[in-house]
Amino acid sequence: MIDLLSYQPKQEFAQKHMLRLSDYTHDEILQVLSLALKLKKQLKEGLRPPLLAGKILAMIFTKSSTRTRVSFEAGVYQLGGTAQFLSSNDIQLGRGEPISDTAQVLSRMVDGIMIRTFKQSDVEDLAKYGSIPVINGLTDLLHPCQILADLMTYYEHKGSLTGKLAFIGDGNNVANSLLVGCAKLGLDISVACPEGFDPDADVLAAAKQAAAQSGSKIVITHDANEAAEGADAVYTDVWASMGQESDAQDKYKHFTDYQVNEKLTVRCKEDYIFLHCLPAHRGEEVTETVIDGPHSVIFDEAENRLHAQKAVMALLMR
Ligand code: CP
Ligand code: NVA
Repeated sequence: MIDLLSYQPKQEFAQKHMLRLSDYTHDEILQVLSLALKLKKQLKEGLRPPLLAGKILAMIFTKSSTRTRVSFEAGVYQLGGTAQFLSSNDIQLGRGEPISDTAQVLSRMVDGIMIRTFKQSDVEDLAKYGSIPVINGLTDLLHPCQILADLMTYYEHKGSLTGKLAFIGDGNNVANSLLVGCAKLGLDISVACPEGFDPDADVLAAAKQAAAQSGSKIVITHDANEAAEGADAVYTDVWASMGQESDAQDKYKHFTDYQVNEKLTVRCKEDYIFLHCLPAHRGEEVTETVIDGPHSVIFDEAENRLHAQKAVMALLMR
């Protein structure tokens, strides 16, 4: 069984950005998780190593956030640096200044950029035109930092990075990144979503490629019961993501068989854990009995955003 706290890297960490998990090797993801666990342990012991002393992180948000904003800001402070919160309403990006110019200007002033926005290509363009690390804090396509925290939480509760996760619901940004994260690490992953709401085809292809190397088994199904069968962890997310609110009622009609409730979780292993990236809509994608029940680890998962992202920032911006 792998002991992540004392994990010895196999190669030097070569990544410049955190745009998508598919860029990362198995070893690099384990390096992130290992440092995250170390930083978590140190923080609990009252230690705040100044790995980013004097560094500045610019945080661009064109969508709302609680966890991502607070965890990045708290995280960079704990590592000795500072953060700037840049709402797209308040910076010139929101008035049409090109991403390429924004990237070059910020690169002359700060040491890293975290961005939450709609288009994945905007995040990639920031990295392309800038000269400092760029971290994806969620796009319509992906949410890699979330999945690092999820994998860390899975490891803490299960004691290993083996077994099966089931994702039930919308094949969205979280489902996409979860597929890749599990496939990279060799975890089995079953995704159950309504027809027409499948994970992104290109991301799925990248996950399958990773799974061919790691031995992970990927199943995409329209049957929630099949996905949940024998799962060590069951994960869900909202049925309408940010930006889809106006079509939510129409969309919800397709999701009635995809609620995570006690009828579904009875199919999971007895000691299954329940994961949700939050924010949650109780009574929609998950019942109160499950999300507020004994199997739920949602607040450990939310806390791990802090530790996982501190590790990402330390590895990229140091
Ligand atoms: N899970 C997550 O990213 O939460 P926020 O939208 O609050 O940042
Ligand atoms: N899928 C959700 C995740 C929120 C953290 C969204 O994009 O709104």
